[in-house]
Amino acid sequence: MVQVVRDAAGAPIEARRLTKRYREVPAVDGVDVTVLPGEIYGFLGPNGAGKTTTMRMLLGLVRPDAGTIRLFGRDPKEDLLAALKGVAGIIEEPRLYSYLSGRANLRMLADFDRSGVDRAFVEEVLETVELRDRAGDRVREYSQGMRQRLGIAACLVRRPRLLMLDEPANGLDPAGIRYLRRLLRRLSADGITVFLSSHLLAEVQELCARVAIVAAGRIVYEGEIDELRARAGRRYRLTAAALERAASVCAAVPGISDVAIVDEHVTFAVDADEALLALTRGLAEADIAILALVPEQLTLERVFFELTEGPAERETVPA
Ligand SMILES: Nc1ncnc2c1ncn2[C@@H]1O[C@H](COP(=O)(O)OP(=O)(O)OP(=O)(O)O)[C@@H](O)[C@H]1O
Ligand SMILES: [Mg+2]
Repeated sequence: MVQVVRDAAGAPIEARRLTKRYREVPAVDGVDVTVLPGEIYGFLGPNGAGKTTTMRMLLGLVRPDAGTIRLFGRDPKEDLLAALKGVAGIIEEPRLYSYLSGRANLRMLADFDRSGVDRAFVEEVLETVELRDRAGDRVREYSQGMRQRLGIAACLVRRPRLLMLDEPANGLDPAGIRYLRRLLRRLSADGITVFLSSHLLAEVQELCARVAIVAAGRIVYEGEIDELRARAGRRYRLTAAALERAASVCAAVPGISDVAIVDEHVTFAVDADEALLALTRGLAEADIAILALVPEQLTLERVFFELTEGPAERETVPA
């Protein structure tokens, strides 16, 4: 039976003008974050941007110097325990008892939490994070990826409505990252709202429809990831035998702009497929072999570039 909970009204996270200073230096400087029910929200930023500090404030681990927080409409300043009901998270690394088994860690948490979690549910959670066959081993014998999964399991035994994960993909191999994505999608389909941080755009762009990008404690972008992609435009990377000459050919093609030589490639923006056709013709006429022509991945670096400096700042090849 589905229970309709009235007091669930209010967004899972609504933070306004959050600010935290360390020795007068703002680590987080007027950050606004709104996370809507059921979404997987990405919190992006480079090292030192203020992601962890923001998440610590949201989880009540650090007191903000200024700003307001509402979790499902509740103010942690008024009643921390009530506000954190149904909220679970991992900051940086999961905290686990390394001399106990994974199963014992979860059972202990379930007992502490007094949330009425039975042992069968602990087994279910172990199954969810695919740790059942290693659940009896001591955590110190786990790999980093297994520890991450146990950390998520430790959140799940609390039956959260909101899960906050600080760089959960750190230290995972490609298979581990794929697994994490699948798990988060499944949790989201089950109605759990997910807020996750990352310093890699590629890591969140398949998972999140909306993101905030934070740099030096400030939000530089908040919104749809698709809009971000559109704003950054379509870019390609060409590897060709004669790089300088290839760049000149590129620059002469109508519909191609912002041509630059980066490392051993020519990069450029394209406004339509016709321009690519004209480019391949132009290169053939100039007797230049195309070794590779691939769309450029949207990276956080490039987004920053577009958001802060704009294409004009790049070292460009004149048309
Ligand atoms: N306890 C603390 N005392 C002093 N300065 C701190 C403290 N915690 C964070 N900072 C500073 O606040 C800034 C933001 O740090 P934070 O850990 O929030 O960044 P981050 O975005 O999580 O970075 P990373 O990607 O490296 O994890 C940094 O300049 C950091 O040195
Ligand atoms: Mg951090």
